Parts: sequence; C-alpha cells; structure tokens
Amino acid sequence: MPGISVGRLASKRWREYRDIRLEALRTEPYAFGSSYGEERGQTGAEWRRRMGNVLFAFRDGKPVGMLTLVFDAHRKRSHVADIYGVYVRSGSRGLGAGDKLIERAIELGRGRGILKMDLDVNPRQGAALRLYEKHGFRVVGRQRKELRINGRYSDMLIMERFA
Ligand SMILES: CC(C)(COP(=O)(O)OP(=O)(O)OC[C@H]1O[C@@H](n2cnc3c(N)ncnc32)[C@H](O)[C@@H]1OP(=O)(O)O)[C@@H](O)C(=O)NCCC(=O)NCCS
Repeated sequence: MPGISVGRLASKRWREYRDIRLEALRTEPYAFGSSYGEERGQTGAEWRRRMGNVLFAFRDGKPVGMLTLVFDAHRKRSHVADIYGVYVRSGSRGLGAGDKLIERAIELGRGRGILKMDLDVNPRQGAALRLYEKHGFRVVGRQRKELRINGRYSDMLIMERFA
C-alpha cells in the first residue's frame, strides 16, 4: 500500500494547493462553508498567504489531502485551535490520510499548549463525522439551516475535543 506522509507544502507550490482546494469545493459542496465560485478568482498572493495554515497529506510526493489549522490570535481564545477544510482526494481515501492529518493537528495543538480544538461538520458528511469521532471529537451542538446550497438548507454540527 502506498505510504501517506503529512507535512507542509513550500509556498512556491501554491498552484498545487489552489488545485486541490478548488477540487474540494467543486466536488464536495456540502462539506465546506466556502464555494468554488468565490475562491476560483483568488490571486497567487492570497493562495500563498492561506497555505501557511495548511497541513498536507502526500502520496508519492503529491498533495492528496489537506487540513487547515488556525491558532486563534485573540488572547481570550489563545487556548483554542480551529480546524477547517479537511479533504482527501477521492482516489486516495481509505489509506489513512485523514487519520494522519487529524493526528498531526492534535500533536501541533498539544505542542502549542492548546486546551481544545473546535470544528464544524455537515452531518451528511458521514465519513468526516466518523473520522472526528474516532479521534475524540464530540458533537456539542447543532446549528440549524446554517448553510444554503443550491437553494436548500443544511444544518451543521459543532464538534470539540479537549486536549
Ligand atoms: C473525511 C475524509 C477526509 C476521510 O479521509 P480518508 O483519508 O479517507 O480517511 P482515513 O482513511 O484516514 O480513515 C480514517 C477514519 O475516517 C472514517 N472514515 C473514512 N472513510 C469512511 C467511510 N467511507 N465511511 C465511514 N467512515 C469513514 C473512519 O472512522 C476511519 O477510521 P477506520 O478506518 O479505523 O474506520 C474524506 O472522506 C473526505 O475528504 N471526504 C469529503 C470531504 C469532507 O467531508 N470533509 C470534511 C469537512 S468538515
């Protein structure tokens, strides 16, 4: 089985980040609060800035998955980290990339002395919900009709995990 590794992507490779992010927004519209149409026109500088918070899963040296981890800059929330944008390319699912991305995010959070991690997930994204539960995230709330996609509303679950 091909190995999956997790790490950062050099900023000069921002086009690879753009391509996987736009693929995620296009193919999994229910998974993310943002959309393909909103992000496709972003400049190289914007992509480079954003990828500083992104962890990538690599297979044969190519990014096949990603996770955005943001440490809150506000003092009152400096003990909290937020996870966004978790995605693994469909041809590389089931190989442990999701596991490795979450494990690395938890490790990085611990290294920063984080008390807890937060994320939101659409309940229709069953694989993601299972992945987060497996790693100790628990559902603590439900926001009703939080997203409107193609004219239909979707609830979102709020999950958190204490270190
Ligand atoms: C969720 C996602 C990132 C999982 O990535 P992955 O690399 O395939 O996950 P892994 O192979 O590391 O599996 C880890 C765990 O995830 C869960 N999982 C993965 N695929 C699953 C599936 N098809 N059904 C149910 N649970 C699944 C399981 O808990 C699994 O652990 P297990 O193998 O011990 O049962 C991937 O399916 C994906 O990108 N989905 C679409 C985007 C999305 O929903 N993102 C979340 C936004 S909040």
